[in-house]
Amino acid sequence: MTETTVTSASAAIRTGIARRRLGVGVIGFGWLGQAHSRSIARIPMLFHDRPYEPRLVACSDAVAGRVDEAVSSFQFERGSSDWRAVVDDRGVDIVFIATPNMLHAELVEAVSAAGKAVFCEKPVGGTPELVRRAAVAASAAGAINGVGYNYRWAPLVQYARELIAAGELGEITNYRGRFFSMYGADPLGLHSWRFAFDEAGFGVTSDLLSHSVDLAHMLIGPITRVTGTVETFIRERPVPGGAATHYGRGRPEDPRAPVTNEDYAGMLAQFASGARGTFEASRTIIGPESQMAFDVYGTRGAIGWNLERLNELRLYRATPDRGSGYTTVLGGDRFPHHGAFVPGGGNAIGFEDLVTIEDHEFCCAVAEDRPFHPGFDAAAQWAAVQTALMTSAGSGRWVDVTPLIDEGRAP
Ligand SMILES: NC(=O)c1ccc[n+]([C@@H]2O[C@H](COP(=O)([O-])OP(=O)(O)OC[C@H]3O[C@@H](n4cnc5c(N)ncnc54)[C@H](O)[C@@H]3O)[C@@H](O)[C@H]2O)c1
Repeated sequence: MTETTVTSASAAIRTGIARRRLGVGVIGFGWLGQAHSRSIARIPMLFHDRPYEPRLVACSDAVAGRVDEAVSSFQFERGSSDWRAVVDDRGVDIVFIATPNMLHAELVEAVSAAGKAVFCEKPVGGTPELVRRAAVAASAAGAINGVGYNYRWAPLVQYARELIAAGELGEITNYRGRFFSMYGADPLGLHSWRFAFDEAGFGVTSDLLSHSVDLAHMLIGPITRVTGTVETFIRERPVPGGAATHYGRGRPEDPRAPVTNEDYAGMLAQFASGARGTFEASRTIIGPESQMAFDVYGTRGAIGWNLERLNELRLYRATPDRGSGYTTVLGGDRFPHHGAFVPGGGNAIGFEDLVTIEDHEFCCAVAEDRPFHPGFDAAAQWAAVQTALMTSAGSGRWVDVTPLIDEGRAP
């Protein structure tokens, strides 16, 4: 048998796939910055017919040890404690932003002005005004932009969207969205940036409710009116000694700082379609650990999904004798993207796989020079609902949702 040596150049010629080289920069190398970096690194092993070749080029974090880790373990070519080094790097085509929220808008403005594509973690700014600023900056620069609403990409959520769009549930009458997490339930849980308005902006509404409302927008369309309430249940927390995440725990004797944004939000909503909805989010609840879930009810059926059971979709199809009951559809490679990770049915995928799918989709859009969805328009759509919710929480009244950005000047 003749021995053949394969190089990456000869392999590229044989597969016949033209791939655009995309240099990736990451700003903020905590949980999600690392998740995006791992995703980019493994994309070539998962998505073989991609139109791009990604490279981890430059990373920045405010903590020196994290920059070292980015270069030594993740194999970024360069690292810096100054995020401007990533923005100015000529080898970087796309920047992923995964810093605390109040930095998002300034970073989006800088990346867009530098002529690069920009993917920003939700909420793209800690307040609606900052989301608007970011969206306007990306739009003015013509920057391809994306937002990290990763739950949209769950294969079974995509399937739910297909079923609803095809009318399989009939006319949608009501929607129930919730995101309950225990990350802040322990009063000794550290006072990380998420609990400080000057770093996070709004609290659980930006952090968790944004995901729930975004999924509702994707599945059944825009919300037009809301009334709601917010509350902060744990009003002070121990201050961390150094770099810490919101999963860290302090000691009773540690100094404390006040929590300056909300732990809980509840909202009644009216959709443009006429459907009604309820939404709740909490970071201090006891019981549900990461219950990012929705139920959609229609005149012919119902559907339910819960992140805690990411590989299961509950489906009810009404039959004339009403004897059908809910059935469970298991995830598998017959649903979008699932087969990139594992073949067959019933073999599970996980949280970070959704980040990988969204990063792959975003890189495809950049390589093909076309808009990506969800982009900052989706972030602005949520922020308009957040504005109405916060106004209602103050007044106790129903409030109309007013678009943040003029119609006809969509970001
Ligand atoms: N889509 C999701 O499911 C999801 C999940 C978690 C977090 N997020 C979002 O990701 C973002 C980051 O959250 P996280 O949980 O990764 O937080 P994190 O605290 O784990 O990481 C944030 C990182 O940003 C760094 N940082 C702070 N200031 C910086 C600066 N000036 N320059 C460079 N780096 C800086 C911090 O040192 C830290 O390493 C937030 O916007 C959050 O809303 C999204």
